Amino acid sequence: MDKFLIQGGVPLEGEIAVSGAKNSALPVLAACLLTSEKVTLERIPPVRDIATMQKLLGHVGARVGRADGRVTIETAQIAHSEAPYELVKTMRASSLVLGPLVARCGRARVSLPGGCAIGARPINLHVAGLERLGAQVRQEHGYIEAEAPHGLHGAEVHFDRITVTGTEDLLMAAVLARGETVIYNAAREPEVVDVASLLSKMGAEIEGAGSSTIRVRGVERLHSATHTIIADRIEAGTFLMAAALTRGDLLVKGCVPEHLRALLAKLSQAGADVTEQGPDAVHVRGRGKLKSVDVTTEEHPGFATDLQAQFMALMTRAEGISIITETIFENRFMHALELARMGANIRLEGRQAIVAGPTQLSGAEVIASDLRASASLVLAGLAAQGETTIDRVYHIDRGYEKIETKLAGAGARIRRMK
Ligand code: EPU
Repeated sequence: MDKFLIQGGVPLEGEIAVSGAKNSALPVLAACLLTSEKVTLERIPPVRDIATMQKLLGHVGARVGRADGRVTIETAQIAHSEAPYELVKTMRASSLVLGPLVARCGRARVSLPGGCAIGARPINLHVAGLERLGAQVRQEHGYIEAEAPHGLHGAEVHFDRITVTGTEDLLMAAVLARGETVIYNAAREPEVVDVASLLSKMGAEIEGAGSSTIRVRGVERLHSATHTIIADRIEAGTFLMAAALTRGDLLVKGCVPEHLRALLAKLSQAGADVTEQGPDAVHVRGRGKLKSVDVTTEEHPGFATDLQAQFMALMTRAEGISIITETIFENRFMHALELARMGANIRLEGRQAIVAGPTQLSGAEVIASDLRASASLVLAGLAAQGETTIDRVYHIDRGYEKIETKLAGAGARIRRMK
């Protein structure tokens, strides 16, 4: 298993370019199953979760091509309308093929994902939504089996709570359903808008993506399209915090500042010098002392749960008490215990982490427990005195494209040990 070796204490300087968004690319790839024609996608990040999704599409019957950062998907026919356990267990987002498969061929068999390091993460809301659209769904032998032999029909769906992939799954099912579907309490994440944008290019009729109410008028068929994935706001945010934490001077290029509003506000309040440079770059400079600020994770446009772990690393170096409240997932504080091994002063009380700072972090051997927790440990390692070794970095490879190469390009002393 690969490890990262980090010599801390070097400020990040220069520029880092952001990749395409993993959490956009995943549903966008699944959406390609909705047409028999070829879909061309640009800026798909070459990370492990994407490789898993491409493998899944291949299993289902798609021809997947990749050259020069461009991915093509052509699914003339669905060969197996099934997402097997071997693939789903390594990536929960595999459940995103449920909606497209039922919509395209009236049948889907998708393994239940099982446990996850950050919370229970059931898919009951995806299932309830599909049932509203006329699918008959049963659970057997660890699989969800959905059938709609006569096709799906439009309906009003009200999500009990906001779900990102649930909204995407249902949106993809609704575009080929007969009649109108209205999704209430929909997720407003930029990734939902990106999927809707591809679907519209393929001929779908969608209104309101990015708001809490999405209306879809079903069409008979979708056709080929070309689409460029949006920038990864979580990767961008991770680099911005790394720069603030190391008192660096960094330009994060190819991002969308509009998607990062909640984080940029918190970074400024914490004392970092943050300036937007046009529509697609943010400059951050760590100056003076960092001040503690509280954050509460929320659905977009609130503070993203996927940035919470990295923000906790930042707050270990800030003066005062910071209260970090996690409202989206019930168990997303695994990194706190590893940060404590590096000297952080963090107390966990239910859904809150109370961080007292500033503490001088010291390098240690730590273990990555999930994707964003790993990113938080990398940040801590960059700021710590001495050497940090991070084990199980396969977690970080799921969602960050060559993070060590990008950080090293900005001066960080980080290397991968095979
Ligand atoms: N939930 C249910 N039932 C459902 C679906 C969700 O109870 O059927 C609950 C979840 O357990 C959670 C909450 O609703 O407590 C929100 O979950 P959501 O469905 O929004 O999460 P997700 O769609 O499974 C996506 C991202 C996550 C990100 C969350 C929240 C993808 C592929 N994954 O997950 O990304 O944290 O939204 O923004 O888009 C990551 O990239 O590291 C990551 C975990």
